[in-house]
Amino acid sequence: MSGQTDLQNPKPGRWQPAVTSDPLLGKHGTLGQPISRIDGPLKVQGKARFAAEVPYENLCYAALAYSTIPRGRLTRLETAEAEKAPGVVLVMTYRNAPRMKAPSLMMSSPTAAGASDLPVLQNDEIHWNGQPIAVVLGETQEEADYAASLIEADYDLLPAVTSFAEAKKTPRQLDTLLGEPPILEIGDAEGALRQAPVQVDHIYRTPRHNHNAIELHAATVAWTGNELRVHDASQLLDLTTGQLADIFGIDPGKVHVTSPFVGGGFGGKCLWDHQILACAAAKLAKRPVRIMLSREGVFRIVGGRTVTEQRVALGANADGSLEALIHTGVVAMTRHNSCPEQFTFPARHLYAAKTFRLAQEVADMDMLANTFMRAPGESVGTFALECALDELAEKLGLDPIELRRRIEPRQDPTSGKPFSSRHLIAAYENGAKEFGWHRRNGTPGQQRDGEWLIGMGCATATYPYYRFPGGAVRIRLTIDGRATVSTAVHDMGMGTATAQAQHIAVRLGIPLEHVTFEHGDSRLPRGVIAGGSTQTASIGGAIIAATEVLTEELIKLAGNDSPLAGLTLGDVEIGNGGIVHKDDASRFESYESILRRSGRHDIVCEAQAPQPSEVATFSMHSYGAQFCEVKVSEITGETRVSRFLGSFDAGQILNAKTATSQFKGGIIMGLGMALTEETNFDERSGRVINASLAEYHVPVQMDVPDIRILYTNSPDPQAPMGARGIGEIGITGVAAAVANAVYNATGKRIRDLPITLDKLM
Ligand code: MOS
Repeated sequence: MSGQTDLQNPKPGRWQPAVTSDPLLGKHGTLGQPISRIDGPLKVQGKARFAAEVPYENLCYAALAYSTIPRGRLTRLETAEAEKAPGVVLVMTYRNAPRMKAPSLMMSSPTAAGASDLPVLQNDEIHWNGQPIAVVLGETQEEADYAASLIEADYDLLPAVTSFAEAKKTPRQLDTLLGEPPILEIGDAEGALRQAPVQVDHIYRTPRHNHNAIELHAATVAWTGNELRVHDASQLLDLTTGQLADIFGIDPGKVHVTSPFVGGGFGGKCLWDHQILACAAAKLAKRPVRIMLSREGVFRIVGGRTVTEQRVALGANADGSLEALIHTGVVAMTRHNSCPEQFTFPARHLYAAKTFRLAQEVADMDMLANTFMRAPGESVGTFALECALDELAEKLGLDPIELRRRIEPRQDPTSGKPFSSRHLIAAYENGAKEFGWHRRNGTPGQQRDGEWLIGMGCATATYPYYRFPGGAVRIRLTIDGRATVSTAVHDMGMGTATAQAQHIAVRLGIPLEHVTFEHGDSRLPRGVIAGGSTQTASIGGAIIAATEVLTEELIKLAGNDSPLAGLTLGDVEIGNGGIVHKDDASRFESYESILRRSGRHDIVCEAQAPQPSEVATFSMHSYGAQFCEVKVSEITGETRVSRFLGSFDAGQILNAKTATSQFKGGIIMGLGMALTEETNFDERSGRVINASLAEYHVPVQMDVPDIRILYTNSPDPQAPMGARGIGEIGITGVAAAVANAVYNATGKRIRDLPITLDKLM
């Protein structure tokens, strides 16, 4: 017999973080253990099934043909040769594709998930260079690929904006910058800048970047009648489920999406055309379909980070205090996506200044929809801001860390809210000590090893805390003291399941081996997206709510013969394998004892996270200090990063091992951003011309030095588990730390990423 709360209508949690800290904080003290990932053994044995590995009878394989113009109409689409090719099951174009609704754009409603809102293969219109124009299904991948190469197309070209230089001449004002005002002005910053004794005022540029997760975007899909089964590689499977139902006009209950393992997701493993095309083709062929994009395919149809041009101007007094902080600029965007690359966000929270002007615009282009990519906004915004701070420190003759100490704000400098928890200066001090910052020579070009000029640089890392509402968690506790906790969230390799299993073990006071964490299945209680470094805190909020319900249900079950008789939720604590009176440890009963006496085998509870009220009251951000040492060859201009250290203040760390990996991964991605990564976009045709890993250079082993990670491990009193997100902050500040180190080594300021050899020659 099962104790069952109303699973259809999960109770909202009552815990209000802005009022009380997570009751777990300071009680058990065993969060953070460096446990190895629980999915590790499955992965190293090849037993973890990824989206493109799920077996199906009668499966066929999809290949795509892509447009070669940026904007226009198809005038001829020749598919006869492809249809006759060996092993071809069918060719789908706009002429025979099933009618489908266009995706709704992410953030246009709480359930929308489209990375773009353009219709998918419904007409002859072309909106970007690389848009899919046909899907070929083959008996094998090779047959499908070959047949796709036989498709020919002619077009009527329409005028297209493919030059950023042209597009930014007529910028568009944004209505909103991800819910924040796009222009933030405090005082007369331009006037204050002009009058400030010391000024820096420069333009910084960052290029386009593409998503290059190890696992290519893939899905295996099958229809049974009107029911759709999708094995996806996803970071928002609940939204994908609802969206596919909407696109195909079926009940959401008829769509089942799973994504138990993902081979890396950084904002790009969302709903793009390929899943929709696979579902449509499977419907047409009446067979299961597998689509796995080629690496080129990912460049053609999965958007990445957009190009930015940013101005940072700082007006300072001789002591470093800021009279003016100006951060403005423009990014390229399309009218069909929701990612404005909010590079002005860091300047809203990092430093005290008397006046501010923070404003950004977009320049619309005819290109693939750009999207979220690890720390969208903050990654490129910190490049500009943190380089400018370094330039200012030099002009003032101040150590860059000392400058940051002098402009450390007491409260959020633009909203005026108190910080929930902020230890940026401590992060700098810890990092400086460990890195040997005192050995840096403030005058550039003074240190060398043969042809190699050596320099050190530092920069601030920052990323906001947020928690998505609506996530639900189900806890099933059995009489043998085991718990299964279920929610439709994601583990893309970052350790979600491991960290949450640890968290639950500590919260319930049961051994880790007794915890099962179920995730990655849309049929589980509704989860949240894995995005914006919000998933961990969001799950935490839902788990707190579910344990509150569980505690109340257990007290009810315990009844009058229990030491807990007459107690309510407010009187007790949960943990140590049972429930105990807060002030009287003798009033304790174990879960097992409660279930046994009430004749139950298990109890099941479900609840939803409370609304995130904490960010309305507090300025909540994670911080860090990035330290870099480079060697730059005087002969070739080559930059080698010789040492790196990231010192973070991200609240309570839940698993020292997986967290360190997250920070390191972010830093490595930041090294790519600093030195090598750049999507080459042909401004004449709008075509990405380096659509392969041979020509788009991500860091490889030899590019990555020893990276040390430190963290303050100071629990944030306003966050569930005291933990703020850690997925994205690692990349922020890295490019600036590298650029500042390059300057310290060579005396050359590179304000235009990536810092390639030619710029240093
Ligand atoms: Mo992150 S860019 O929200 O995966």
